[in-house]
Amino acid sequence: MKGIILAGGTGSRLYPLTKITNKHLLPVYDKPMIYYPLQTLIDAGITEIMIVSGRGHAGHFLELLGSGTEFGVHLTYEIQEEAGGIAQALALAKDFADDEPVTVILGDNIFQDNVKNAVISFRSGAMIFLKEVPDAKRFGVAQIKGKSIISIEEKPAEPKSNLAVTGLYIYDPMVFNIIQTLAPSGRGELEITDVNNEYIRIGKMSFSTLSGYWSDAGTFESLFRASELVRNTRSGLK
Ligand code: G1P
Repeated sequence: MKGIILAGGTGSRLYPLTKITNKHLLPVYDKPMIYYPLQTLIDAGITEIMIVSGRGHAGHFLELLGSGTEFGVHLTYEIQEEAGGIAQALALAKDFADDEPVTVILGDNIFQDNVKNAVISFRSGAMIFLKEVPDAKRFGVAQIKGKSIISIEEKPAEPKSNLAVTGLYIYDPMVFNIIQTLAPSGRGELEITDVNNEYIRIGKMSFSTLSGYWSDAGTFESLFRASELVRNTRSGLK
C-alpha cells in the first residue's frame, strides 16, 4: 500500500499565519503540522509516500522532510498548480499509485488512532473513517442506515448525523476513473465527497468509526484544539 498526503490549498482560513508560510508547516504543539499525517501513514506500515502540495512554499516541504530517510520512508513530491480541491490533488498521484490501492490523508488532519489493521485488510472499493463531532456542519457528514453508509453531505446546514467524515481514505485504483467524471462543486473544487458518494452509489464503500481523538487544524479554533489534544495526550493529562 502506498500513501498520499494532500497538502494543497491556500490556507485562507488561517490568514495571516499563512501569509508567508504554508498551513501544513505551522506548529501543532511541538511539531510541524504535516508530521502528524506522515506519522499516521508510517504507523500504518506505509513507506512509499507522495506529498502533493501547492506551488507556494513547495520547496519548504522538501527542506523539512527531504527524502524521508530520517523517518524510514521514501518520499516523492508533486505540485498542484492551482487550488482545485482534494480530488483534483489526488488525481495528480495517479502514476505514483501505479494501479495499486492507496491510503490518502489530508495534511491538516491529526489522528490518534492507528489504522494499520484497516490498511492491511483492505482489498477493493473504498473505506472512510468517521468520528462523532459536536460541529458536524463544518465537515462531510455521513448518513448511516443499519450497518451501511447511504450518503455523505458536504458541510450541510442541517447535518443528518454527528458523524464527520475524517480526512483519511483508502481507495482502490478505480478512484482515478471516478475523479475524471467529476464536475466542480459550488466552491469551484473537485470534491472528495463526490468521489465517496460514487463509491456509495455503486455499493463499494465501507467505513470504520474512530475511537481516539481526531481534529482538523485548518481554522484558528481547530488548530488550537489540535495542539491541545496532542499536548494533553503527550503529557498524560488526558
Ligand atoms: C475536507 C472535506 C470534508 C472533510 C474534511 C476533513 O473539508 O471536504 O469532507 O470532512 O476535509 O478535515 P475542507 O477542510 O477542505 O473544508
